[in-house]
Amino acid sequence: MTELMVEATNIHKIYKTGKVEVNALRGVDLTVRKGDMIAIMGPSGCGKTTLLNCLSGLDDVTDGIVKIEENNLAQMSDNEKTEHRAKRMGFIFQFYNLLPVLTAVENVEMPLLVSGIPAKEARQQAIEILETVGLGNVMESKPGALSGGERQRTTIARALIAKPAIIWGDELTGDLDDETATGIMDLVARLRKETQATFVIVTHNLEVGKRADKILYMRSGKFVATEVPGQGRVQIETAPEPDATEIPNPDTVEVPNPDTVEVQEIPAPPPE
Ligand SMILES: Nc1ncnc2c1ncn2[C@@H]1O[C@H](COP(=O)(O)OP(=O)(O)O)[C@@H](O)[C@H]1O
Ligand SMILES: [Mg+2]
Repeated sequence: MTELMVEATNIHKIYKTGKVEVNALRGVDLTVRKGDMIAIMGPSGCGKTTLLNCLSGLDDVTDGIVKIEENNLAQMSDNEKTEHRAKRMGFIFQFYNLLPVLTAVENVEMPLLVSGIPAKEARQQAIEILETVGLGNVMESKPGALSGGERQRTTIARALIAKPAIIWGDELTGDLDDETATGIMDLVARLRKETQATFVIVTHNLEVGKRADKILYMRSGKFVATEVPGQGRVQIETAPEPDATEIPNPDTVEVPNPDTVEVQEIPAPPPE
């Protein structure tokens, strides 16, 4: 039996701001097996961050079911979700910034201190993981004195220190140059082997995506294609929106346009 880490069924997310509604997720299905690495790719605004927030329980879905390690998020209290997140999840998000007044080692040991590990033990583990990510020599530096790649490795060390079962990464190689991004992904690959953790990452970088077991391409709140690196891309057949009472009108059912599935933007036609 394959153990599932994430099981999302037909999830929808609608943001309501004043009178405006944004359909950020429009029927996403996703299963992630333990130990897998899934990459989610798609243009800005297509719902990638919303999806990670909803899957990790940082935000609630409007409709649909999210199960993490067989726990239905909708049936968990906020406290249970927070505790589960602290114990089982690691986040490499750009808004989960390092605290600028703390040194690298202080930033990294923070999750352990928060979960009640004694200071001495937390410090020892932080030193070990910083050495693992190649930052043994800059542990006492504050984030402002570190390079982009070093900051990102510090963030990864902090995300992994509590040995989470699942790591969510939003643009984990964000602004880094190609060489540094490759270094980060080599590190992720090594840590994956060592920890057997599950990774769900969002990326703009196809080279990063290709390191995953599967790439899911997203457009306007839905998955439109899937690719197993090395085996080519498959378009996802999207079923009509389920509506128990109405027979879908073929004129209004959205079918993904094969011309828009590619990640590259299609240039506008030249003016007449
Ligand atoms: N907190 C929010 N309130 C209202 N709209 C939001 C909020 N967060 C995201 N959105 C909207 O939802 C859509 C998806 O956003 P997001 O998930 O951030 O996309 P991505 O990460 O793919 O760039 C966008 O149209 C965005 O403007
Ligand atoms: Mg985003």
